[in-house]
Amino acid sequence: MKKVALVTGGTSGLGAAISARLTSDGYQVVANYLPALEDQALEWQQASEQDGLPCAVAAADVSDATSCQLMIDMLLEEFKRVDIVVNNAGITRDATLKKMDLEQWQAVINTNLSSLYNVCKPVLESMQNNRFGRIVNISSVNAQRGQFGQTNYSAAKAGVHGFTKALAQEMARHGVTVNTISPGFINTAMVDAIPEAMRTEIIDSIPVGRVGQPEDIARAVRFLVDDNAGYITGSEISVNGGLFMH
Ligand code: CAA
Repeated sequence: MKKVALVTGGTSGLGAAISARLTSDGYQVVANYLPALEDQALEWQQASEQDGLPCAVAAADVSDATSCQLMIDMLLEEFKRVDIVVNNAGITRDATLKKMDLEQWQAVINTNLSSLYNVCKPVLESMQNNRFGRIVNISSVNAQRGQFGQTNYSAAKAGVHGFTKALAQEMARHGVTVNTISPGFINTAMVDAIPEAMRTEIIDSIPVGRVGQPEDIARAVRFLVDDNAGYITGSEISVNGGLFMH
């Protein structure tokens, strides 16, 4: 039986590459999308299917606990299990703290950090009963080193790894691993949105000399969700071209 993998924000950017990688390797992927982006998500689903990578999709706003509970109830009803969760959905609302309004702060904290509570809590019982689970949380190099203009994002993404380490301890005896992947600058719309001069400066500072590709992250996710990766838990894997080493 195929293992069922829920990828939040799974129909675009990093998430789309993760969904494609896992589908291609034989997982039943459910790619979550924000309800307001349904047209784009369905278009992506159709294109994936044409590429020979059929994926299910499911709408939910990851910043909303009720929305996540409903989505996961539906998945448990349809597939009877959720074996893998990749908490990938994330946003930026960059501004220096002096200029950042409360809405920009809360939007990033809720989408990038509270989402982990909203998505993980409803799947734990199913994972525990099956004595198997893989949770991969996507953080960022900007959590590890801080980033000018990103107090909200750096705080939320640093919180992600704290969450990982605590939940890893709670679930270790139940066959459920919880790990963090911290990408560097990856070729996605989020990084494209950085003002060009700053982007060039950042890219010049990456030791391998280029931005990463979404597939670089997808391969790391694939490694962590493998049946044989059960002894890796509470870890953080940096995939950043050497930009930050610790
Ligand atoms: N360190 C120190 N000072 C800096 C600085 C830095 N990194 N960047 C800018 N400054 C200085 C500027 O030189 C400027 O100084 P003066 O007033 O003396 O000229 C001052 O700070 C104000 O800077 P800005 O003009 O840029 O301020 P702004 O309000 O117009 O813009 C900002 C602020 C929106 C945060 C803008 O700086 C910005 O977009 N920065 C990029 C943020 C970034 O890197 N985001 C990453 C997105 S990708 C991502 O998040 C994915 C991932 O996980 C890696």
